[in-house]
Amino acid sequence: MSQKICVVGTGYVGLIASVGLADFGNTVTGVDLNEDKINKLKEGISPIYEPGVEDYLRRNLDSGRLKFTTGIDYAIKDSTVVFIAVGTPENDNGEANLSYVESVVNSIADNLNDYKVIVTKSTVPVGTNRWIYELLKEKTGHENFDVVSNPEFLREGRATQDFFHPDRTVLGCESEKAKEIMFNVYRSLNLISVPFVWCNLETAELIKYASNAFLATKITFINEIANLAEAVGADIHQISKSMGMDGRISPKFLHPGPGYGGSCFPKDTKAVAMFGKKYGVTMNLIESVIDTNDKQKARMVEKLKTSIGDIKGKTIAVLGLAFKQQTDDIRETPALTIVDEILKAGGKVQAHDPKAMDNFAKIFPDIMYCHTAYDAAKNADAVVIVTEWNEYRGLDLIKLKHAMKGNFILDTRNLLDPEIVVARGFIYEGVGRK
Ligand code: UDX
Repeated sequence: MSQKICVVGTGYVGLIASVGLADFGNTVTGVDLNEDKINKLKEGISPIYEPGVEDYLRRNLDSGRLKFTTGIDYAIKDSTVVFIAVGTPENDNGEANLSYVESVVNSIADNLNDYKVIVTKSTVPVGTNRWIYELLKEKTGHENFDVVSNPEFLREGRATQDFFHPDRTVLGCESEKAKEIMFNVYRSLNLISVPFVWCNLETAELIKYASNAFLATKITFINEIANLAEAVGADIHQISKSMGMDGRISPKFLHPGPGYGGSCFPKDTKAVAMFGKKYGVTMNLIESVIDTNDKQKARMVEKLKTSIGDIKGKTIAVLGLAFKQQTDDIRETPALTIVDEILKAGGKVQAHDPKAMDNFAKIFPDIMYCHTAYDAAKNADAVVIVTEWNEYRGLDLIKLKHAMKGNFILDTRNLLDPEIVVARGFIYEGVGRK
């Protein structure tokens, strides 16, 4: 049986959850304080760039199963299942700021007119779901509700595929009544045999952090081996590929690069390190991953300096600003470190990104933003590829060389074929290969 659902928060997680849950046949109301955003969503316009999301948005708006509102009170009262999908940004001390979550919990307490399942989708520190339960109990004076932890594993740029075809659905759920309701919410996933992991609240919360910390560790491991491969004259791609042939290792997330970024890995690894401190458990490995990843970002600028010498007075074309392809998200992108270091060293930056320039300009308003990669390369001493956008894989090297003043390419994603690049008269530097 489909469920009446309210999703509070229409950011990245909330928007995908709203359109996805509606597509499963549930009746969904997406709620946000931001009126502009809600008006856009009502018209079928996505406030974020994410491939495919507007198709799902329009389809479900048209079917009448999906609505958006700023009226949180009625939306909660009218639903059996309330998803919390608001942001949990990092405080200055690195801890998750739970004030948005708390404010939603207060609204839920004020509108708990009947039994409801409260589902946390936001990534929250271990213990938060139990705290939500206690807060609701204290504020309402009853326990006619259940709290479920349902972490998301969506990758930006592939979020709709990940939502509709997840590797697993994790549900921290400690009541049979809530279990039955959640099973109905995700019935469509059961039909395609997606495994459901039922566990307690703390386990679900930690599965999310452990998964992201592990993937961040895997990337950091291969980056470190890539650096060693460079020093000894080995090829990191053959190493990754061969390692991945071992079923115990798997080839995924073994691609070397300029260091991981984004809204999750940096935040979640830091959170794990902090839980360790809080609970008195040594987290040497994760702490080392965080430090090594920061150094990997900075190492890209060192590579540039080693090849072109003093950056002062030189023009560097930076191709790609987003933390990965298929997104306009620049949170913790290696481009922030790279651009900052180039500017500090007295260089000039000419940047291009197919989607992320507006966001980047909010932080670096004074660098030059260009319409095409070739415009960015105009009179540049060096080109640095930071994001693995497909269009950079197919760069016209003759045109690029023609535009440039110098001939150095730093390919932090190993997108180009070094032999071809060198044959076109460039000096080429990748990551983990000659
Ligand atoms: C991640 C998780 O994958 C997802 O499950 C979670 O819910 C949210 O965080 P996302 O941050 O969108 O998703 O992107 P992801 O594809 O995981 O990449 C994260 C970072 O790692 C990017 O900077 C990417 O460029 C980098 N990366 C990824 C590598 O450097 N090498 C790889 O092999 C894979």
